[in-house]
Parts: sequence; structure tokens; C-alpha cells
Amino acid sequence: MAVREIKPGVYSVGAIDWDRRLFDELIPLPDGTTYNAYLIKGTQKTALIDTVDPTKEEELIKNLKEAGVTKLDYVIANHAEQDHSGTIPKILELYPDAKVVTNEKCKDFLKELLLIPEDKFVVVIEGNTLSLGDKTLRFILTPWVHWPETMVTYLVEDRILFSCDFFGSHLANSSLYEEEGEKLLEYTKRYYAEIMMPFRTAIRKNIEKISELGIDVIAPSHGPIYKNPDFIINAYKEWISDEVKNEVVVAYVSMHGSTERMVNYFIDLLIRKGITVKPFNLTESDIGELAMALVDAATVVIGTPMVLTGPHPQALYAAYLVNILRPKTKFISIIGSYGWGGRFIDDIKGILTNIKAEILEPVVVKGYPKEEDFKAVERLADEIIKKHESITVA
Ligand code: FEO
Repeated sequence: MAVREIKPGVYSVGAIDWDRRLFDELIPLPDGTTYNAYLIKGTQKTALIDTVDPTKEEELIKNLKEAGVTKLDYVIANHAEQDHSGTIPKILELYPDAKVVTNEKCKDFLKELLLIPEDKFVVVIEGNTLSLGDKTLRFILTPWVHWPETMVTYLVEDRILFSCDFFGSHLANSSLYEEEGEKLLEYTKRYYAEIMMPFRTAIRKNIEKISELGIDVIAPSHGPIYKNPDFIINAYKEWISDEVKNEVVVAYVSMHGSTERMVNYFIDLLIRKGITVKPFNLTESDIGELAMALVDAATVVIGTPMVLTGPHPQALYAAYLVNILRPKTKFISIIGSYGWGGRFIDDIKGILTNIKAEILEPVVVKGYPKEEDFKAVERLADEIIKKHESITVA
């Protein structure tokens, strides 16, 4: 990524990863990502805010040279995950006088993950400030967005919040900014769903905390910078609220068509009643899309056939994802089919230990679905409709 000035003395010096298609060997990145790092040149000191994934260290080093950095005083580590911290050891090699500024917990992680020695750290606590001369950095601890040590850095004079993962998005973009509309909202929602959603309660508290700052610009460490902070803060407020939408996510897999027939019948019933249905055939679905759908849906239904003596592994995988992502879903059910025996209801329920949703009576059919099975599907659809009428927003 080319060096670009955001405000006088404040530069973007990170890297674009156009080709990365998987994060954590799990999360699909349909449009790559960026590892944003920011350079702040004060009249007396120079600070680098976060670094980049080690695969892109050469790009960061080139940018620092291009920006004329011969002496670096501080590397601010907002987060210990290696896509932001992984190049700190290399930076410390190149700029041996630099100190790593972070909180106690993050320091402990960096010592373990990157073997950075104790004497390289300056430890800050909530509200501490660091003067660079004409520019002042203030540190705000924001735990659990999305690790326990996460913090954000506020540049007081320029009213810029460097939020690291908080408010980020995976989008490789040649521009530092992106129009703050539907397209960007989708990238940010995908990102929220994949890594932030399990920590809704912590995020709520952290949003309250940063709301007191007076922010003109939010500069995250993935994806575009926001010139209008309300765009992303208001989106987060909606996602973390307890309100659910009149939506049903149907995550299913079918081997010989029995489960699929019931799922299709079920989907039609709901659509006729005005419910938004988001079906995911698990053999083909992008799990990022599934995660996004989970952000708002009032109900999740898992569809599975029996494989040998248990649920299809794809259905178990979906149930596991729902459980670790901890969406605000209020109702869950299962539609399934089997040939000669086995059990799957208890196996799926047993995975959903983090989810406080009410389990609605599952529908299970032996072989090809018959009239009474479709009646059972109708009963499930009717129950969902009734439940939604009392609790959902449009
Ligand atoms: Fe972008 Fe949690 O690292």
C-alpha cells in the first residue's frame, strides 16, 4: 500500500493483501484484506500504530523508509494478534531505540507469542497519554474486541480513533476510504459476524466508552477508514442490540432429497407469511454469509439427514458455528430425516450449549416425507410465525 497522508503528520503505511482468501484458516475473504498501520510524526517523537501481518513486513519497512523514518520512538500495540503485531520484532530490529507501548495483558501476550523481551515495553493503563510533542496519544482499554487485551488509541489533537480490529472490515481497496453505504455495510457486517458477535456485551460497554471521546475519523486496522464515525458506530449499535428481525436462517444439508423436500416446503410456508428466509445449503455455502445472516435472525433451523448413526457432519459444523458465534437468536429447531435408525436431535442440541434460545419441537421423518410429515412442518412454521409476531422488528 502506498504511503498516504490522512492528516498533517499522520500517514497510512500498512499493506494490502489482495490475494488472501482465508483468515485463521477458517474465514473466507472474498475480497482480500488490508493490514493498516499508521505513522504519527510529532514535533518531538514518532510513533507507529500497529504493524502488519509478517507476510507483508517488507511493504511496511519500505513505507517507513519512504516516509523518511530514520528514528522510531514508539510502536503502539493495540492488539497482540499476529496480523497486527507479527512485524513488531522486525521493526524493533530496524529501530532498536523504539519501545512497544501497550497494556499489561497485551504485553504478556506479545512476550509469549513473539518473544519480545520485557525491557522493550512501556506499559499503559486506561486513560494514560503519551506526548509526541504537538500530538498526544490517549489509550483506552477495550477488552474483548475480540481478544481480552484489545485497546484503542485516540489521537487527541486530530480526533482520530485508531481502533485496530474494532469496526474493521476485510476489504482490499486501493482507496483509503470507501463510500459509506450498503456495500461497505456488508463488509463490516460480515466482519462483525465472524469475530465480534460473540462479544456483544463487551462491545456495548466499549462503544459507550469511546462515545465520550469526540471522534472525527475512525481508522481501523482492516479495511477502509471512516470519515463519518456515526456510520459504523450506529451499525454496531443495531447489531449488538437485543432486537431480532422477522427472519429465519435455514442451514441444511440433504443426501437423497428427503430433508430438502421438507426444508423447501417449510421455506415456502414462511415466505407466504411474510417472513424473510435465508437458506444455506451447507455443502456450498460461504460460512461468512451464514455468520452474517445470524446477526439479526429471530430463528435458526438446522436441517440434516442421518449419516450412519448421527447427524450429517456439515450440520454438526453449522451447529458448532452457531454455538461459538453466539447470535441473539431466540428460537432454534431441527428438521431431519433418516433411513434405518440413529439419533441426531440430542447430538445437535448438545452442541448448542452457549445459545439461550428456546428449542421448538423438531420435525423428523423416516424415509420420504409423507402427508403427516408435511403437517408437522406446517405446525413448526405456524409456531415460528406466532413467536415472531410477539418479538420481532421488521
Ligand atoms: Fe486483525 Fe484480531 O486481528
